[in-house]
Amino acid sequence: MSMRRQLFATKSLSQLLEEMAGENRLRRVLGPVQLTSLGVGAIIGAGIFVATGAAARNVAGPSLMLSYVVAGITCIFAALCYAEFASMVPVAGSAYTYAYATLGEFFAWIIGWDLVLEYAVGGATVANGWSGYFQSVLAKFDLHFPPALSGPPIIYDTAAGHFVRTAGVVNLPAILIVTLVTIVLVKGIQESASVNATMVFLKVTAVLFVILVGAFYINPENWQPFAPYGMTGVSFFGRTLLGQVNAGGQPVGMVAGAAIIFFAYIGFDSVSTHAEEARQPTRDVPIGIVASLVICTVLYIAVVAVLTGMVSYDKLSVDAGVSDAFKQAGLPWAEFIIAAAGVAGITSVLLVLMLSAPRVFLAMARDGMVPQSFFGDVHHKFRTPWKSTILIGASVATLTGFLPIDALLHLTNIGTLFAFLMVCAAVLIMRRTNPDAQRPFRAPLYPFVPILGILACLLLMFSLPVENWYRLIIWMVIGFVIYFSYGYSHSELRKRADAVSRGV
Ligand code: ALA
Repeated sequence: MSMRRQLFATKSLSQLLEEMAGENRLRRVLGPVQLTSLGVGAIIGAGIFVATGAAARNVAGPSLMLSYVVAGITCIFAALCYAEFASMVPVAGSAYTYAYATLGEFFAWIIGWDLVLEYAVGGATVANGWSGYFQSVLAKFDLHFPPALSGPPIIYDTAAGHFVRTAGVVNLPAILIVTLVTIVLVKGIQESASVNATMVFLKVTAVLFVILVGAFYINPENWQPFAPYGMTGVSFFGRTLLGQVNAGGQPVGMVAGAAIIFFAYIGFDSVSTHAEEARQPTRDVPIGIVASLVICTVLYIAVVAVLTGMVSYDKLSVDAGVSDAFKQAGLPWAEFIIAAAGVAGITSVLLVLMLSAPRVFLAMARDGMVPQSFFGDVHHKFRTPWKSTILIGASVATLTGFLPIDALLHLTNIGTLFAFLMVCAAVLIMRRTNPDAQRPFRAPLYPFVPILGILACLLLMFSLPVENWYRLIIWMVIGFVIYFSYGYSHSELRKRADAVSRGV
């Protein structure tokens, strides 16, 4: 096969559906309510419970409410495109598989590699947030980790505009939770609907509690000034296009806030990974994706309105923003309830993220993109991709142990925005290349939704500190080296095409 042909070679829709039919199928037991609940379970986590505090304080002020609207709308565009694909190709591979069917092998590789970044670095971010909440629960019992073991050795000092040394050496609680989750994932979790339902119930109750109780403690004066850092915050490779920058040259303002708290919405895409367990995937998966996103958007905006109304934005805690606001309002019992529910809720998100990364690798290994003997090796007893789960666990533990939460969060966001951008682009391409394919769910207002999705993702990507572009580019270059030195020659698609041309 010529190089050009192989880079753009696609798996046909019928081939994907055939593969689906051939494997051992999972049971189709999930309806729209369960799928929505799975989505909410994967979405609500460290983003709202942790990142909100720092984002309001350092980047957007009370206008963070609008940041949540902007990030929510961006996700809705991407979600509608995801939903179109999930209804067309109701297989478990998510965006990697969609790309293989539409954009070709090379772009599929880019998305798969990028998704691993999203899930692994996202896991490190969430573990870091978990550590903050866990330590605030322990503090209630007067238990403390020694400073050297309670946080990363560096943090970003917004006022100074650069990283500074801390008293910490390593974030031990974060490493411990990652280790625990890795063990659970290697042994295999029976994704039990009732355990998930309990987690979701706890989280949503905590969020409703914040909104309903906190509403009584709002002082509208705290909402002034509404946008202390301005309403924009967009730069292009270090050059400010719109709005202000902080001492370190990073964009600040309402839109820059949206780029940061975008993290809080990550996870709705995981609904598409349950497509093969859905009773009516073509109808229920789109419903699950869109409904979970809309529910979380509404809850998030209300939480931020309450938080910034309870406490002046410049006094919000950067480690455990939500629970600490209740402490500052003189409700320490409420702080405890929220922190405890936060720990449980954040753990479930960590499980989803760390479960997803090895499964993307597994899908890639089946296509010959990464070594099957390592990434495709399913444990004979536990039936899990144990080697890559351990590899991902070790990487996540290293990242979360030594890096500060904001650096991790920014990197997760740029990687995820890039994946969403590709999914929106894939919808545009697929409508042209396969106009007659069955689309039980169609993204509305075509072509505006995918085009606006692409533009919104780009806007948020440019609102993140520029270093993240360089980190993303480095990650991609590593990916290209691996693809051209391994995946290109081991591709199953290539092998099949070569066999056909040899007449085998
Ligand atoms: N949306 C997930 C969270 O906020 C990743 O933790």
